[in-house]
Amino acid sequence: MSIDQSVGDDVRRKHGEYLLPAVANYYAEPIVLAEGDGMRVRDVDGREYLDFFGGILTVSVGHCNPTVNTAVKAQIDRLGHVSTLYPTVPIVELAERLARITPGKLTKSMFTASGTEADETAVVLAQVYTEAQELIALRHGYSGRSLLAQSLTAHAPWRAVPTQIAAVKHAVSPYCYRCPFGLSYPSCDIKCAQDIEELIRTTTTGRIAGFLAEPIQGVGGFITPPKEYFDVAVGIVRKYGGVFICDEVQTGFGRTGGKMFGIEHWGIEPEIMTMAKGVANGLPLGVTIATDEIAAAFQSLTISTFGGNPVSCAGANATLAFIEDENLVDNSERQGKRLRAGLEELAKSFPKQIGDVRGMGLMQAIELVRDEASGDRTPDPATTLALFEETKKRGLLIGKGGLSGNVVRISPPLTVGEAEIDEALTSLEASFAALG
Ligand SMILES: Cc1ncc(COP(=O)(O)O)c(C=O)c1O
Repeated sequence: MSIDQSVGDDVRRKHGEYLLPAVANYYAEPIVLAEGDGMRVRDVDGREYLDFFGGILTVSVGHCNPTVNTAVKAQIDRLGHVSTLYPTVPIVELAERLARITPGKLTKSMFTASGTEADETAVVLAQVYTEAQELIALRHGYSGRSLLAQSLTAHAPWRAVPTQIAAVKHAVSPYCYRCPFGLSYPSCDIKCAQDIEELIRTTTTGRIAGFLAEPIQGVGGFITPPKEYFDVAVGIVRKYGGVFICDEVQTGFGRTGGKMFGIEHWGIEPEIMTMAKGVANGLPLGVTIATDEIAAAFQSLTISTFGGNPVSCAGANATLAFIEDENLVDNSERQGKRLRAGLEELAKSFPKQIGDVRGMGLMQAIELVRDEASGDRTPDPATTLALFEETKKRGLLIGKGGLSGNVVRISPPLTVGEAEIDEALTSLEASFAALG
């Protein structure tokens, strides 16, 4: 297909003119996407890309998945909107499905329009249930863009205003590559988790509402905790009266391979769980699910105009059925292993730039540093940006993360096959080689 640059240029110009400058795009010259099909997307100028970020871990079953789209089109022609004031078939079908697939005693759902609202709802539930206010969140965590969510978030670049919620206390991140205590696993005795007790005893009233954490810190750069972390951390939180709010916005629905949810790898049952992103293959939907007891404590009225929108719920039902029917949780594990092995080989080929390879399933990251080979782990966001431009030239889309913007996040749709994993690895290798 011939490339007509003019359409893209026009969109980029208008984006600069009419959108908040804070709405940042990837790449020196942002890609204006217009079409998607499975693992591939095309821009308005006709260039094709292999999508290894899937929105932001959102397109779980491939772009324009025909099964999902058929369900969505049928629903929008039947009934497009009602708000949470009316029960609908798609909403109860989804709630029943979520009660079945989530771990432990999670049974009662509330639907909203985003991950931010899902986390907000979870915090309210924890506070009304425990009748306590204070919350433990994690440094390097990300919870969204509302004022509460920004206060839970622990990344200066994602905070437009100072912390608004004094009741949020941030524990250190289980970030082994940059251990906040300078220790090494396993001799560290999981000090990052143990330290939560000191945090509660010194910075709170000693009675907390809860602990909100991602099983793998997504925006933080796929920071993957040691396997004992959540057992120790959640044990301490419960000792001080708090509940565990597990934010599965990125790790949910098979993303981490072999399990439907990230936290299931470690056998911990949260009292509240939040989800969004991959649940409806890109349609806006936030979910907060809680135990019966916690749900019963929420006595005030609550409504969400767009929450549980029948079209989003129909999309979610079709997406989750597709994940189960096609065994995509297993595919995520299988292809994740192939991807991980390839990234570890890449790290051997580029031992200076690649400091760490981490993640689980189809949620893999590489952290770029100044010179790992000589022990200089200074984050290298400039090389990360240069790598992005090189992968773009080779038709590969990847994601960025980390406090310093020096982590490459790789998360293709769960429908990815071996050939596409190999294609992405080949493009990455050529891109690193081109950096010189
Ligand atoms: C772990 C996590 N929680 C919450 C959110 C907020 O979700 P949303 O952007 O849908 O509001 C995000 C978004 O990236 C996230 O990664």
